[in-house]
Amino acid sequence: MKSPFANLQHTHPDGEERQAYVTNLFDTLAPGYDRFNRWVSFFQDEAWRRQTIKLLGDRASGSILDLATGTGDLARSALVNGATRVYAFDISHQMLLHAQNKVIEPTMNGQIGKVQFAQGSAHLLPFCDQSLDGVVSGFAMRNVFHFLDDVLSEIHRVLKPGGRFAILELSRPRNAVLRLFFKLHMSKVMPTIGRLATGKSSPFHYLCETTMTFLSPDEFRERLLKAGLRDVHWQSYLLGGISIHAGTK
Ligand SMILES: C[S@@+](CC[C@H](N)C(=O)[O-])C[C@H]1O[C@@H](n2cnc3c(N)ncnc32)[C@H](O)[C@@H]1O
Repeated sequence: MKSPFANLQHTHPDGEERQAYVTNLFDTLAPGYDRFNRWVSFFQDEAWRRQTIKLLGDRASGSILDLATGTGDLARSALVNGATRVYAFDISHQMLLHAQNKVIEPTMNGQIGKVQFAQGSAHLLPFCDQSLDGVVSGFAMRNVFHFLDDVLSEIHRVLKPGGRFAILELSRPRNAVLRLFFKLHMSKVMPTIGRLATGKSSPFHYLCETTMTFLSPDEFRERLLKAGLRDVHWQSYLLGGISIHAGTK
């Protein structure tokens, strides 16, 4: 069954209604979210996150925003890669609480002082113009589709000239057979893994739909260029099921 929250303009309720749904969904999913990520990605997600940070190039050692940080895995990866300051930003209070707990773990060698957590919405960032060296984001763009162009403009606004961004996202494989396999994984396997990991299955129908109806990597690249970002390229993983777009301002 198609939910009214798929990433299709004609089925779109207004932004606020959709955002309330999304925020509540991630507040609810927070406790089992990491487990779900590891299982559904066949334990590959940490490698994709490392690659996302790597695509910031020398900017990775500056001030980095993890936009829609969730439970903070990209923020952690940024710290491990030598960022001097990391802003972990998300709309979900529960996700941010989990992110905070992870950054104070002993394995993080007291890096908590370099991280600032903030709650808010990605389309209105509380950062000054041209103040950040890098922006990263993981698996979030589908969830802010209702104001995607505003979010991308904000990324452009807060980056310093020459600053870099890298965005990790699920995507539909180009190849029709792989796409069918991917859809099967998303619609049948993912809700089952989701139920085992979080005790819930209905949110995973939403996640499947937002993925199957999201922009293709080429279309997303066009939107990034439209926001003023430059040198935009993307690479795919997991047979086209994952893409990382990166570029500069
Ligand atoms: C699929 S999770 C991704 C979390 C994390 N970035 C990761 O890589 O695992 C999507 C995140 O987007 C956040 N989110 C949804 N709408 C948002 C908005 N308008 N502004 C900021 N964060 C938002 C959710 O709360 C959730 O934490």
